Amino acid sequence: MEVVILESKQEIAALAGDVIEELLAGKPNAVLGLATGSSPLALYDELVERHRAGRVSFARARAFMLDEYVGLAPDHPQRYRNVIEAEIASRVDFAPGAVSGPDGNAADLMAACRAYDEAIRGAGGIDVQILGVGADGHVAFNEPGSSLSSRTRPKTLTRQTVADNARFFGGDESAVPRHVVTQGLGTIMEARHLVLMALGRSKAEAVHQMVEGAVCALWPASVLQFHPHATVLLDAEAASRLQLATYYRQVYAGKPAWQGL
Ligand code: GLP
Repeated sequence: MEVVILESKQEIAALAGDVIEELLAGKPNAVLGLATGSSPLALYDELVERHRAGRVSFARARAFMLDEYVGLAPDHPQRYRNVIEAEIASRVDFAPGAVSGPDGNAADLMAACRAYDEAIRGAGGIDVQILGVGADGHVAFNEPGSSLSSRTRPKTLTRQTVADNARFFGGDESAVPRHVVTQGLGTIMEARHLVLMALGRSKAEAVHQMVEGAVCALWPASVLQFHPHATVLLDAEAASRLQLATYYRQVYAGKPAWQGL
């Protein structure tokens, strides 16, 4: 796991943008993994700018989303498929149908989840997966207690996640769906490169547990310690509880130029 501590969310977005720009330059038909939440928003703005500047094209790329609420109306603005459409998909040149998400309205949710994992495999797997982390250590919607080898499946949100996400529903916790479908931790771990972004002090404990704690279901993001290519991009506040922060800064400052992320 490479931990990079940067000064601002713009620097984090620029570095993550470099990863995606380089990927698409070398493999225009790459498969991206897109995340919702506030953490990747600056990255999506960065990618839109680079697209407008002619530096990056998504025309041959595909993308898979991490997760989805169960039961939101198809036109609900907080349905993650609509959020991703608004934040990135409609602002760049993805081909029609190139962005997929888990179906939170399927009559048979389990069958839809299995089909989703199959679709990711059928596309050749995800090249770069963008991730955030919840304050309770969840990735996608894999809440504490999730099997570290779980596949895409329905889950129930914790009270903390419902409270955290109420800000997207006008502050009304009762409007936040309790059930979701999410790529499993095992599914996410199959992506070839994981790029996780975390911002702010509310993530500091989760980041510490993810990077330096024991690998355990109580802190689902800690499974990233087993990934052969995981990059964790942090601002100073999110990094504020890291025991080895000085070392991570020293490593990154002395990193040879030839060694990409
Ligand atoms: C949400 C999403 C996650 C996201 C996380 C953190 O519930 N399902 O994919 O990473 O919580 O969100 P944010 O980036 O807004 O802090």
